[in-house]
Amino acid sequence: MLRSIERELIDGLSGAVADAGHDRAVDASALELEDFDDDEKGEFSSAISFAIAADEGANPMAVAAAIADAHEAAGLPEGIGAVTVENGHINYHLDVETMARRTLSTIDGEADSYGSRDRTDPDTIVADVSSPNIAKPLHVGHLRNTILSDALMNVLEALGHDVTRDNHLGDWGVQFGNLLHEYVEFGDEDAFEDDPIAHLLDLYQQFERRDSMLEDVEEFGALTDSFEDSVEAEREYHTDAGKEWFARLEEDDEAAVERWEQFREASIERFEAIYEELGVDFDLWIGESFYAREGWNDRIVDRALEADVAIRADDGSVFVPIYPDEYEGAGDPARADIDPSPDRARETLAEAGSVEDADFDPFYIVKSDGSTVYGTRDLATIAYRTEEFDADQSVYVVASEQDHYFKQLFVAARKMGFTDVRLRHINYGMISLPEGSMSTRGGQIVTVREVLDAARERARDIVEEKGRGVADDEVDAIAAKIALATVKYGMVASNRGKDITFDIDEAVSLEGDTGPYVQYATTRAYSILDDAEAVPDVDAIDPTAFNDTDHQLIYHLGRYPLVLDLCEERYDAASLARYLLDLAHVFNSFYHKNRVLDAESAAAERLALTAATAQVFENGLGLLGIDTLAEM
Ligand code: ARG
Repeated sequence: MLRSIERELIDGLSGAVADAGHDRAVDASALELEDFDDDEKGEFSSAISFAIAADEGANPMAVAAAIADAHEAAGLPEGIGAVTVENGHINYHLDVETMARRTLSTIDGEADSYGSRDRTDPDTIVADVSSPNIAKPLHVGHLRNTILSDALMNVLEALGHDVTRDNHLGDWGVQFGNLLHEYVEFGDEDAFEDDPIAHLLDLYQQFERRDSMLEDVEEFGALTDSFEDSVEAEREYHTDAGKEWFARLEEDDEAAVERWEQFREASIERFEAIYEELGVDFDLWIGESFYAREGWNDRIVDRALEADVAIRADDGSVFVPIYPDEYEGAGDPARADIDPSPDRARETLAEAGSVEDADFDPFYIVKSDGSTVYGTRDLATIAYRTEEFDADQSVYVVASEQDHYFKQLFVAARKMGFTDVRLRHINYGMISLPEGSMSTRGGQIVTVREVLDAARERARDIVEEKGRGVADDEVDAIAAKIALATVKYGMVASNRGKDITFDIDEAVSLEGDTGPYVQYATTRAYSILDDAEAVPDVDAIDPTAFNDTDHQLIYHLGRYPLVLDLCEERYDAASLARYLLDLAHVFNSFYHKNRVLDAESAAAERLALTAATAQVFENGLGLLGIDTLAEM
């Protein structure tokens, strides 16, 4: 209900600004939601008077007073009891009885869809989510991606958008040529059968080790000429062989494709098992290979050359030249009026003599050996999404390591003529683990498997130690749900841009800022409702019976839809996670202060309030992919 009051306030404020004689557009940013029961600021506050006063050289206090008067004269929204002016701010104060009535009846009426929106004109959003490379295990970075993107897409869907989740697998590129070569030389069928990803990872790491060793030797020089020759031969053999295998793949050579498909299928099978355990799902699994194998890459290269937005260099490579001053806002179609002509780049290239010395960055789409690259496939993906899906937004949930790459991609896409689609890189920070708390197999990566196993083990200990009313045969199932709550909450609750240290012991605790803490509050609400004889009808309760503690809780329930809006604004579900934690705190203090069931007065009202709280927990946790529990 705060969402509708906010809307009505903005409309009213806009009218009042005009009525007070100012010519100024008013949008949502003109209004702040404040803490509940802030006598000074009210629950909604506007500082628009300062901007108007600055423009007009007027006194902000006087401007604010005139706008507030005009708003009051035109009528305040139902639920706003008063408007005041303090230090130039226009402050709106909720009428708590109307707030209580409207909030509880909205939640009761909308139930599961409380917080959602119906949109007449939803965006068609196609989003890259998870998107691991095949032939390697899923690691904590993928875990963060998968969980973060799942929550965000759930929120966008609840807000009425039409979302397609695409697991854009990394399954093409010269590294798979290298892997094919390595497999043919050193692969072992049995080891592959046994644990395909582990075996392929070994082979991949072996390739990388050899490569960096050869690099070291090349850098520091060999002791003898013959040693140097053999280093060179070795290098040539392996590198060239890898490239050749990739070329064979790109040419659809049967033997290469068959082997590669084995790698791909085995990887997908293993990934699927983990996704299922995480409870996440995708609409599409279009890997990079699709764009190469279905002709989209070729078409994109032709298009770039025909439209004359790319330059073919003397060595045969093809690139779109990009200037650093073109990056700003390239993802936003409104700011995408970038000059696509490469003429200026051609001139500077001629002067500088080489791409390295020129003043632009080359965004390669063909390498000198004729092969395509990551960027080619991403441009092809944009073509596919705009042509086949008519996407309004192409979204990329990808680690911030690739920030620079995406800036370049977006500029290149604009130059290619994809000018209508909004392009968004939804980046997230690195994730690390506190030293020594978990094994890092191979010394390099922490896998999703390891994190899930550790979380489950800790969760089981907690259920065994602290669980109430949990039957023995339920321990594992409940521990699994707590473990997921632990991991999911831990991955979403920090703003996505931040690097995080993920500490399982902290995350699994029932105290502190954790998923299980929120789950536990929900379980408490369920058990109150269970113990009650009946939950009263919201229309039958007396909204004047609530005290301050109750109002505080009702206000938080009313905020929920606005929190979802904020998640959309930021493309980040972190605000939802933190909101649920706040709600758990507020609910716990309501519980302790008002002793719902044994209270003499307002018992029926507080039961209705508890039912509404349980509903909001369910809706919010549901969007984060966290299950609620009847017992824990
Ligand atoms: N597979 C890539 C990686 O693991 C991420 C792909 C992201 N999506 C994209 N369209 N580039 O780094």
